[in-house]
Amino acid sequence: MAAYQPLHQHSQKPSSRYGSVSLGLRTVLAWLLSALLGLALLHLLRCSHCGARERAMVSPLLQYITSTYSQVSTMYGCDYSEGQWVRAPGHARRYNGTECNVKGSENCIRNGRPDTGYLDWRWQPSAAGCHLPSFDAAWFLAAVRGKHVAFLGDSMARNQAESLVCLLGASFPYRMVYQDPEPGTRKFWRWAFPSHNVTVSVYWAPFLARATGKSENYSEPYSSVYLDALAERWSADADTMDVAVVSTGH
Ligand SMILES: *[C@@H]1O[C@H](CO)[C@@H](O)[C@H](O)[C@H]1NC(C)=O
Ligand SMILES: *[C@@H]1O[C@H](CO)[C@@H](O)[C@H](O)[C@H]1NC(C)=O
Ligand SMILES: *[C@@H]1O[C@H](CO)[C@@H](O)[C@H](O)[C@H]1NC(C)=O
Repeated sequence: MAAYQPLHQHSQKPSSRYGSVSLGLRTVLAWLLSALLGLALLHLLRCSHCGARERAMVSPLLQYITSTYSQVSTMYGCDYSEGQWVRAPGHARRYNGTECNVKGSENCIRNGRPDTGYLDWRWQPSAAGCHLPSFDAAWFLAAVRGKHVAFLGDSMARNQAESLVCLLGASFPYRMVYQDPEPGTRKFWRWAFPSHNVTVSVYWAPFLARATGKSENYSEPYSSVYLDALAERWSADADTMDVAVVSTGH
């Protein structure tokens, strides 16, 4: 176990003040944690031996990704990370953020933002002939039929989960299955799309490892991160997840 001073909320630089653990031990613990997380994620992907059952399970999603992105990418040598935003009126207006219940403080329209031009952009890859296909809710849901798609991380993961639910929910009925009881917190939410028996969840786990303090309650001065344990909630559900998206912005 080790405690460490958290990153400043908007800083990329770790604080120079650490707990009492020596640098050598911290390094070893960090490596152990990386190895543990790597193993856990490999387990999630269930592909270490890739039997027929596992292949059958992940192949529709891989096929979706391949046919939507990679094929185009190999055909035209597309690098989707190189490009620019271009104005495309109506393009991004694929859902109504009020109806799909995005976090109140992040709902620009409900909070009275009068202009809407910020909704009208799409990403144009630089390479000639490259086009990023629009999101297709029916195609996506068919690819993850019967599966549990989980987002793990901080507010970045939450934004991604909420955006996905909004995109899917604009075309297919869905219901909230679970939300944390404390008002205002969005640490563990789960939605169901009964038409395709698909579950989408978001797990608040900014460090992936178990953490207490600031990461759970912003009024606290710092976080304590336990490098020898995964965060309880997502790790308890890990073997129910078919697809895990790990993303953090801190
Ligand atoms: C979005 O949904 C809300 C609530 O149903 C509704 O009042 C509003 O008019 C909708 N906005 C648009 C642009 O459709
Ligand atoms: C829905 O998916 C779960 C696996 O996530 C599966 O166990 C269950 O049988 C499925 N239900 C239906 C009605 O297909
Ligand atoms: C959050 O931390 C503050 C400061 O320690 C404390 O007063 C408050 O009760 C905590 N809130 C919750 C929900 O635990």
